[in-house]
Amino acid sequence: MKVEIERKPKSVSWVDSRLETSRAVAVAVATVGLLFALHSPSARAAGEVQADAPPCAMCHGMLGEGSAYGVPRLAGQNADYLSHALSMFKAGTRASAVMQPIAHSLSDTEISQLAGYFSKQNAPLVDAAAPKSSQLVLAGKQLAETGAGKVAACFSCHGAQGTGNGARFPSIAGQPAQFVINRLHQFQARAVGITPQPGTMTAVSTTLNEKQIEEVAAYLSQLER
Ligand code: HEC
Ligand code: HEC
Repeated sequence: MKVEIERKPKSVSWVDSRLETSRAVAVAVATVGLLFALHSPSARAAGEVQADAPPCAMCHGMLGEGSAYGVPRLAGQNADYLSHALSMFKAGTRASAVMQPIAHSLSDTEISQLAGYFSKQNAPLVDAAAPKSSQLVLAGKQLAETGAGKVAACFSCHGAQGTGNGARFPSIAGQPAQFVINRLHQFQARAVGITPQPGTMTAVSTTLNEKQIEEVAAYLSQLER
């Protein structure tokens, strides 16, 4: 059997034309293309949306598990929250140099198909095996469950065990620690020079110090969803 690694599937060259065509990206795209070729039976079963999944899988993983390098987990996330996030990237109201151009090229139908697809995936935790001191994780658990001082308990909004509450309060369980750290820093940056509205994540982020961010990120990355 002849395996043609050079010939990229149409859907994969889609992302190739939109991202910097660095050598590393080209290699990743070819790898993902090959993986999808090997998984073709399930790819066909999942239907049309599968055609759009490879460009996402390159960074978010085959099942939307995310990566330890700060790419969020999409698997098991509320579908409406995912749709909303993609629409915000598309409209430019949520910042991301990576996601804005990608979301911009998606139609509204593709956005809801992709959101539906990833929300239904059940993926392993990417940080499960990462060595984390139990002290760090325990401190994070306490913060998430009961809060501390001005910090409100994360689970009071994000649902028990961080599994989310509807489209407004995303699941934060199982997110790679590096993504949680980056995202909390983004919220903090947004709060600079303004008085954030009470009850928003921007407001919550200003109550957290760096140590607490690391603790809660370590804990959340160990939680199943
Ligand atoms: C080149 C890498 C890359 C590719 C390709 C990519 N993403 Fe992303 N995505 C990211 C990163 C990094 C973030 C985090 C952005 C941030 O919050 O600053 C992200 C964030 C997201 C979010 C927000 C999740 C959340 O919980 O806040 C969604 C939804 C998303 N991506 C969906 C997709 C979909 C669907 C595709 C395919 C059409 C895709 N991404 C392709 C890297 C990528
Ligand atoms: C008062 C309610 C509230 C509390 C308390 C709260 N959050 Fe949030 N959080 C939100 C809302 C609302 C969003 C969605 C913001 C958005 O999409 O712009 C959010 C978003 C997030 C996100 C981004 C998720 C993603 O997938 O992009 C992270 C990470 C997060 N919260 C972590 C935490 C942590 C950690 C705590 C506890 C220290 C916490 N939150 C406490 C309301 C809250």
